[in-house]
Amino acid sequence: MGGGYSGAGDGSNRTYGGYLGLHELLSLQREDEGVSNDEMHFIVTHQTFELWFKQVIRELREIRDILATEHVPESQVPKAVEHLGRVTEIFRLLANQWKVMETLTPQGFLAFRDGLGTASGFESYQMREMEILLGLEPVGRVSEMDPLGHFRKLATRSEADAVALVRLEAALEETTLVSALTTWLSRTPIMGSLYGSEGDSEAVQAYVDAHLTAYASIGEKASARMESQGVDNIDAVKARFAAASQGATDFLKPDGQVNRARAGLLFIESYRELPLLAWPRVLVDAVVELEESMVLFRTHHARMVERIIGRRVGTGGSSGVDYLDATTKYRIFGDLWGVRTILVKSGLRPTLINGEMYGFTGATENQ
Ligand code: HEM
Repeated sequence: MGGGYSGAGDGSNRTYGGYLGLHELLSLQREDEGVSNDEMHFIVTHQTFELWFKQVIRELREIRDILATEHVPESQVPKAVEHLGRVTEIFRLLANQWKVMETLTPQGFLAFRDGLGTASGFESYQMREMEILLGLEPVGRVSEMDPLGHFRKLATRSEADAVALVRLEAALEETTLVSALTTWLSRTPIMGSLYGSEGDSEAVQAYVDAHLTAYASIGEKASARMESQGVDNIDAVKARFAAASQGATDFLKPDGQVNRARAGLLFIESYRELPLLAWPRVLVDAVVELEESMVLFRTHHARMVERIIGRRVGTGGSSGVDYLDATTKYRIFGDLWGVRTILVKSGLRPTLINGEMYGFTGATENQ
């Protein structure tokens, strides 16, 4: 590293090692305990993950704070997108870092595994803090394991774990990223109608109903076509399309009432070409990309684990690979994924009203 360092102070007496705290950092790999090369590799790999987790937590709070503002300034949306992009890249890097872990052979791991006792990545409190800040609900977790409950037990036995628990419980009180995003989406101007303005409920309801009619017509046409072509099990096919149509209604109108955040999301995804929706669309894409990178990170972890320990019970007592595979089903931003199922091609979209409000001057595209 050359040149001067930025940050507090004039830095004139700084050294590389001093600035980075290298002496402390490089004394934390248990070499004084005589660990083997394999075990040091295991420790270094974990520590580097945890360092990145630390950065991710900072980024997530920053993104959440931007989106949780009541009127998010236009200039701040690109900033949120930049931070989301960084988190995504960190998870992509980490998803590849499992490859380094895989250079540990099953026998090489068995040589020191007993020494880990019940220690497991399951006890990574930074992983839990990330999940909490993103908005993973306890009900959404794999039921066999309860990470928070586990920390409550650990906290009675060690001071460091008690501190970790306090941290996690404080995080539980914070606004989650998914909730900040949902509130932000619910304020999307839909067909030119502003959130909370007079007649907004009616305008949004009319838009949602028109979209649902278009969506249902796709299923009806497709099943009629299949019937005329003599497709097998036509009754089952028809039932599937009817269920899809009902699913779209349930998504947009849970309990019979329009969900404005989902309607806003549908509007952003449907009219992606509108200039005013450009940044909202980029933001939504960035969140989907982030969640996808986390899912792949979990998937690659499971494959690495399968390669090293097969189907053994984990050191944390879970079913091991089966448990890890089940966590790849987590979708914190479920609406962002769900809306994709109910989109219609541009020619079938309800005709755009008040297009000029979105900086759009042409007619809606019919493809
Ligand atoms: C030889 C290498 C590894 C093996 C065999 C392994 C195995 C496992 C297993 C079996 C679990 C499930 C919980 C349990 O019963 O223990 C788990 C969870 C976990 N591991 Fe690993 N792991 C390894 C390396 C790593 C590394 C390098 C990290 C980086 C921090 C890590 C992070 C995690 C996390 C965060 C969980 C919790 C997942 C969740 O509950 O969603 N693991 N690991």
